[in-house]
Amino acid sequence: MVTNASILQAFLDAGPEVHLSGESLAEKLGVSRVAVHARIKKLEQSGIHFQATPRKGYQLVDEPEKLHQDLLSAYISQDKVNLESVEVLPSTDSTNLEVERRLANNAPTPFAVLAHQQTQGRGRLGRAWQSSHAGNLYMSVGFRPETSTTAIAPFSLWAGVHIANVLRTLLDIPLQVKWPNDLHVEGKKVAGILCEAKLELDRVQTLVFGFGLNVNQDAASFPEGLRTPANSLKTILGKPAPIHSVTTSVLKAVLRAYEDCQLPEAGMALKNAFGLVDALNNKAVEVQSGTQTMSGVANGIDENGNLLVVTEETTVAVSAGDVTLKPL
Ligand code: BTN
Repeated sequence: MVTNASILQAFLDAGPEVHLSGESLAEKLGVSRVAVHARIKKLEQSGIHFQATPRKGYQLVDEPEKLHQDLLSAYISQDKVNLESVEVLPSTDSTNLEVERRLANNAPTPFAVLAHQQTQGRGRLGRAWQSSHAGNLYMSVGFRPETSTTAIAPFSLWAGVHIANVLRTLLDIPLQVKWPNDLHVEGKKVAGILCEAKLELDRVQTLVFGFGLNVNQDAASFPEGLRTPANSLKTILGKPAPIHSVTTSVLKAVLRAYEDCQLPEAGMALKNAFGLVDALNNKAVEVQSGTQTMSGVANGIDENGNLLVVTEETTVAVSAGDVTLKPL
């Protein structure tokens, strides 16, 4: 039987700009041309656009600006992303909560849940995460590390660094990581990470990696009065961002971060990799950590992922907190 995913897979395998005739698709998939045409029509109705050119065949054009389950599955299988499952939901309270529920129900790990919208999107430090635009990325990945908190602690920093690097390469934009977990482009936030873990003694039983990225929302439509100025990939690029390859690259980066953070010598490697994408380096900052506020100049991270802040008296290693940039 021909499926949406197998048709899309055939187009991705053929490469960009390539035309595939109904006949060649039918032959490749071992079905009739009628079955191929019917499937292409169904895909068209679900938001995927094909251009049909006489004597050449179909071409996959204009990827939808919001995630399409079958197209994402095709990208993921083409890129051999090692996930047990990937599901795009029309709506959920929070993908982090949904992943937590699936982990509690013994879902095989690692797996990813994405949503077109969240009704209770959560940010760091108990803040809300605006999640009503289907063109953005709201995703979470579930893991069962069964390892110590110390071993897994640098995971989210690694993920930020790897995501910044893959998206820099894919989109040619100067993404940076603002310690600990924000992705910035030229001082404006485009993404945030929220990692949540369930512990038993010192073992991390379950880990949820949550990631929100402003992809195809026009920055002009962001709510007013955001704490940090925000931007989106679409506004930065001046055209819609390819959300399916962006998502696939992000998922691969997250899985790589999960492995890298557990390697020997990971601390030194993280310190160096972070230095190349550090949005705060040499900037005057104010750090709010618990009830304490401190001012100084950011000077990278140490091997444990702590932010180093040079104050008038000394250098302080900050393990958690909220950092704001201060005008010099
Ligand atoms: C932050 O910068 O405060 C972190 C934001 C994390 C938002 C993502 S969106 C997908 C996942 N589900 C949530 O409820 N939050 C994270």
